[in-house]
Amino acid sequence: MATTPTTVDPETVKDVHRQFVTGVTVVTTVDGDTPRGLAVNAFSSVSLEPPVVLVCVQATSTSYPALFRSSHLAVNILAADQLPVLRVFAAKGHDKFADIDWSPGVHGSPIIDGCAASIEVEIGERLRAGTHTVFIGQVVDARTRDTEPLIYRAGEFYTPSGLTTITE
Ligand SMILES: Cc1cc2nc3c(=O)[nH]c(=O)nc-3n(C[C@H](O)[C@H](O)[C@H](O)COP(=O)(O)O)c2cc1C
Repeated sequence: MATTPTTVDPETVKDVHRQFVTGVTVVTTVDGDTPRGLAVNAFSSVSLEPPVVLVCVQATSTSYPALFRSSHLAVNILAADQLPVLRVFAAKGHDKFADIDWSPGVHGSPIIDGCAASIEVEIGERLRAGTHTVFIGQVVDARTRDTEPLIYRAGEFYTPSGLTTITE
């Protein structure tokens, strides 16, 4: 991390991020017997061989201590019809799973029903970076469904079927 104070305008940085299109995930873990999770779009593939991914989680989120303690987490990539699920996990709360259909993954992390894809990850590194911690880990289980993913850009949500394919 740079140690000199930044001179970049924070609003410009926010505008930069508004120009970046992502999916939306729900990152989950178990804390004892309690499932925990939050909405995360800071998810990326890092390496394919071995399969390594990262997620960035704000240290002030209520899910954070459980995630930090965990050996595993799951990344559930939301389907286009899961906006209600996103709303649950983008809010603070301890009983987010009360009305959510899910089952434990191979290592216990909650796999949410109806997602476009889900992976379970063995956490390898936890790197503090400003307000967030980057969790880096190896994919130990993976599943996909033949359904369209939810698309996110600048506070708005889209379905892939509304997009136009560019042909050269
Ligand atoms: C589309 C979207 C993307 C988000 N991405 C992230 C993210 O990448 N990392 C993060 O820490 N919070 C992210 N959030 C915010 C958290 O989901 C939100 O702060 C949530 O209330 C945290 O819940 P918790 O405090 O119960 O853990 C995102 C929210 C939305 C709506």
